[in-house]
Amino acid sequence: MLKPDQIPAHIGARRQSMPVNNPTTEGKSLKHPAAKAPKIFADTGTIDEIRPLLEAGIINGVTTNPTLMKRAGATSWSQAKEMMQEIVTLMAPYPVSLELTELQADKMIAQAEALAAFGSNVVIKVPVGGYEAVDPALDKNTGLKVLHALWKRDIQTNATLIFNSTQALFAAQAGASYVSPFLGRLADYMYKHDAVEMASGNALYYLEDHKGTKENSRQHNTAYVANAGSRMDAGVRLIHEITTIFANYDITTEVLAASFRNGVQIPECLLCGADILTIPAPLLMGVADHPLTNEGMKSFVEDSKAFES
Ligand code: G3P
Repeated sequence: MLKPDQIPAHIGARRQSMPVNNPTTEGKSLKHPAAKAPKIFADTGTIDEIRPLLEAGIINGVTTNPTLMKRAGATSWSQAKEMMQEIVTLMAPYPVSLELTELQADKMIAQAEALAAFGSNVVIKVPVGGYEAVDPALDKNTGLKVLHALWKRDIQTNATLIFNSTQALFAAQAGASYVSPFLGRLADYMYKHDAVEMASGNALYYLEDHKGTKENSRQHNTAYVANAGSRMDAGVRLIHEITTIFANYDITTEVLAASFRNGVQIPECLLCGADILTIPAPLLMGVADHPLTNEGMKSFVEDSKAFES
């Protein structure tokens, strides 16, 4: 994990130049203390997961994708559209990313225009690449072309499936409003291939995930301590690379860290200056939980019984 004194000043300066996220309510003298706090989005297509998070004031946006819509129960595109419309209406004015399913540029643009009509808070999610991999007849630059065409049409976009900083830069160059680096999938990949980068500075990652044997955890925890917590996993490093490049070139495309695997990646991404974190609802719900908070709360409640008359 990056230590606060390792955060380059220009990442902090970039955040200062970003728009206010939590405005002070009109007529109130108490200014919002976290005006430029990072945005927290829920990564889900399930409206019942979104409602409580919205009510608790935890989230200010939602991201969906076809997998999440399928998981939410959509069995047809028209049903998926209905569900997406409902989320867009519930979340307004907060942004909701809706992903395109068409694969040809002209059809994608038409689909984007139809989805954008759901509300002014719609952000169109466009896979940055992979088109040729799906169908060799498709143009491999379809994603960038569509991002650029939508920018020209004043439609906000979120370039998704970002796995390196060059993809992020090209998406920004094409006019993307947001880029979504999938840090968890990248970290998983590196871990699976036993890459050195996955000698992560993230002790809990090993305790909670994957190979997770005691022996593995112990070794990696020892490595973590030996490195004074200064190493990042490959996914977090990707976020750091993108925010640094964007800061270097004054790029205001927002860095939307996605595909979280555990709670420790949250502060790690924040220390790297991510603008937005999109987090699965169960992980978001659990973040306020801590064994010591629970224990402390129980003893406060117990002791407060002394005041009962
Ligand atoms: O927002 C991107 C996200 O849904 C991907 O997450 O967990 O499928 O890697 P995951």
